[in-house]
Order: sequence, then C-alpha cells, then structure tokens
Amino acid sequence: MAKSLAIVNCSQVVTVAGPARPRVGAELCELSVIKDGALLIRNQKIEQVGKRPVVEGLIDDACEIVDAGQRVVLPGFVDAHTHPVFAGTRAGEFEERSQGTTYQEIAARGGGIQSTVRATRGAPLGQLVTAGKRYANWFLRNGTTTVEAKSGYGLTLEDELKLLRAIKQLDQETPLRYVPTFLGAHDIPPEYKSQREHYVSLLIEEMLPRVVEEKLAESCDVFCEKRVFTVDESRKILSAARAHGLRLRMHADQLSLSGGAELAAELGAATADHLEHVDLKGIAALKSANVQPVLLPGSVYALGSNRYPPAREMIDAGLAIVLATDFNPGSSPTPSIPMALSIAATHMKVSPAEGITAATINAAYSLGRGGEIGSLEPGKTADFVIHDCEDYSEIPYFFGIEHPWRVYAGGELAFERERELATD
Ligand code: NIG
Ligand code: FE
Repeated sequence: MAKSLAIVNCSQVVTVAGPARPRVGAELCELSVIKDGALLIRNQKIEQVGKRPVVEGLIDDACEIVDAGQRVVLPGFVDAHTHPVFAGTRAGEFEERSQGTTYQEIAARGGGIQSTVRATRGAPLGQLVTAGKRYANWFLRNGTTTVEAKSGYGLTLEDELKLLRAIKQLDQETPLRYVPTFLGAHDIPPEYKSQREHYVSLLIEEMLPRVVEEKLAESCDVFCEKRVFTVDESRKILSAARAHGLRLRMHADQLSLSGGAELAAELGAATADHLEHVDLKGIAALKSANVQPVLLPGSVYALGSNRYPPAREMIDAGLAIVLATDFNPGSSPTPSIPMALSIAATHMKVSPAEGITAATINAAYSLGRGGEIGSLEPGKTADFVIHDCEDYSEIPYFFGIEHPWRVYAGGELAFERERELATD
C-alpha cells in the first residue's frame, strides 16, 4: 500500500489556495486558512486538505499520524533569490561596515564580491558542497523548502561550472530543492577590468552555451548597476540567454536608478529583483510586461540603508510581488524568510498575509513552479512546515527566532526541532 501521512490537530492550515496564477492586489491577503484543519499526504503529494473530520475520515491503518498540537501549518517557503554557494565569509568586512565604511567603498578597493570570488576560485567543489550543506540546513530550519540558487562567485568558465555543479549536487544530496540560475554577469572580474567587452563576449560565446549544454541552469541573471554591467551590456547578455531558452531575472535598480526595471520589461524577464531605487516609470514598465518584482529587505537592512523598495506602490500598481532573502556573504547574510517578512512588515508596510503570499505561491510562479509548490492543494508536492505558533501572523511578529517545529519536503521529514525545555 502507498505510504501515507496525516497531519492532524492544526490550529490553522494556511493553504494559500486560490487562482492558478500569481496573486495581485487584495488577493495577496487571501491565505485560504482552514481553522482546526488537517492534511493527508500520499506518495510525496498532498492528497487532501480540509477540516479535521473530513481528513480523519480518509485515514487508514497504515497511515502515519502526526499530532501538530494546535500549531500552524504553512507551505514551505520558496526563496526566489539566493546566492547559497561560496567559500569563506565576509565577517571582517562586516566589522568594518559596523564602523562606517560602506559596501561600495569596500567593493571599490577590491573587497566585496571580489573577495568572495578569490576565495571561491581557490576552493574545490567538495569544499563548496560542504559549506552549502551547512546553509541548506539553515534554510530548512527557517521553514524554506525551495531556493532559487545563483552562481556568480567564479567568473571564469570552469569556476562558474563548478558553482553550478555544486548547486546540482546540493539539490541531489539535501532535502532542499534548488532551482539554478547562471549569474556569470555578477561582476567584471579583475583580469577583464580594462577590456570589459571581452568578458561580455566570453559570457555570451563560451559560458552560456556550456551552461545550457550541460543543463546546469534554468535562468540567467545580470547585476545591472553603475560600475558593474550597463543596460546595453545587460541587454546583450540577457538576449543571448533568452535565445538559449533560459528564463530571465535581473539585479535591477538596487544601488541607483539605472533603467534596470525598463530593461526587464523590454526583455520579458520573469523577475526584476531589488528595485530599491525604481521610480513610477519603472513600476509601470514592470506592470506592462507582467514582470514580478522580487523584494529583498534583508539586504537593505544589512547594508544599514533605510531605502526600502516601494512595495505599496507596486501592490497598488497590480504587481505580483515576491519576497526573498538574497542570502549571500556580503549584503544579506540571512537565510531567514521570517526575518524578511518581519522587516517587510515593519519598514515596507507589507502585512504578514501579503508577505506569506509573496514568499510562497508568488515566489513559486516566479520560478515557473506555481503548479507544483507554493500552496497546499491536492496534487501538489508535499512541502510544508509546522510552525510553533497558533496564528500565522506570529511568524513575522516574533522576529529573530526559528519558528519551525517540523519541516517536510516531498512528504519526508527534513528538519525536526531538538528536544527543548518542557513548558508545563
Ligand atoms: O544581491 N547585488 C549584487 N549581488 C548581491 C550581493 C553579493 C555580495 O555582496 O556578495 C546582492 O545584493
Ligand atoms: Fe542578489
């Protein structure tokens, strides 16, 4: 008989069920919560979600039953923007930034992304996978079951392939799902600083075809920014990627208004990410091409800036916002979607319900996975999390703690909280 699992006695099952498309406007608040709900899982898929008596009536003798103890069940978070494979840390730079040196000043003297590139080039694949497994655990224990994963700390053909192979290995060897993105255009490597057009050619003529041939990425991303890739260079790289059949994502208008949002719209990108400096014209362009903005409040917070992306204007314009962590060793060293939801609520006035939609179903659609993950509906993959609270709004409200009690990926237990002090 097929293996089955029932989760019963949930204070809320936050299904995020709804129309089979990214949610916009008032829909962002509609979480389709089932009070006193239950879930039935069979063969890694959700078979039934509903009120406890309905689901309990379907339970057979072979079914494993988990009593959620009046906790909340949510879909696993889908983190649609991460840089999860790199060597070393930048804790030293963090100390300097705490004393007032800026992220851009550190980058200008060859630190920042370049210091992670040096460390990553020197690291064998096995070392990157070992570090990546540590971070995979961090994602899981914060309730994330899928991450979009960018390369971008190699910046040579072989080193970019090494990063994408590490991502593939992490997908195979951990319960976390990885959706790979090629970000060879994360920075101009130092050896090409005086001949940047040669690096753009290398990206287009050698790196992209190899990445595609080896099926190592689903999307291509470019860091479009002053002193990094111009709008014209970004257009060339992304057009080539599109011709290879890759989906497009962009680091756009992060540190300055560079025209990134308009370019994302022109090219029909799936997402434009960051957008701290986007203007109303950029927002209108995103709307005209149905580009999803991916907002990354963790990086604004960690850079000590107060310039958050204009989420309310985006929601009012009808954009299907996504919230993600931007986990990386420089601008956003956090794997925690609950932390991103908390900062978004406090600084961007994104409500807990809107934030949960943005970090589940909308994020899944931005990765072309909206039919499989991101909500708890019959037929979908059983990626779900039992959070140790009674109401979903406590997840961003109590910030800086790990809420998950149990995390399931494809119906299998992927994380379980260790024994803790009895509370009675
Ligand atoms: O999304 N903006 C470019 N890339 C990352 C930062 C990467 C790093 O600092 O290592 C970002 O913020
Ligand atoms: Fe990023």
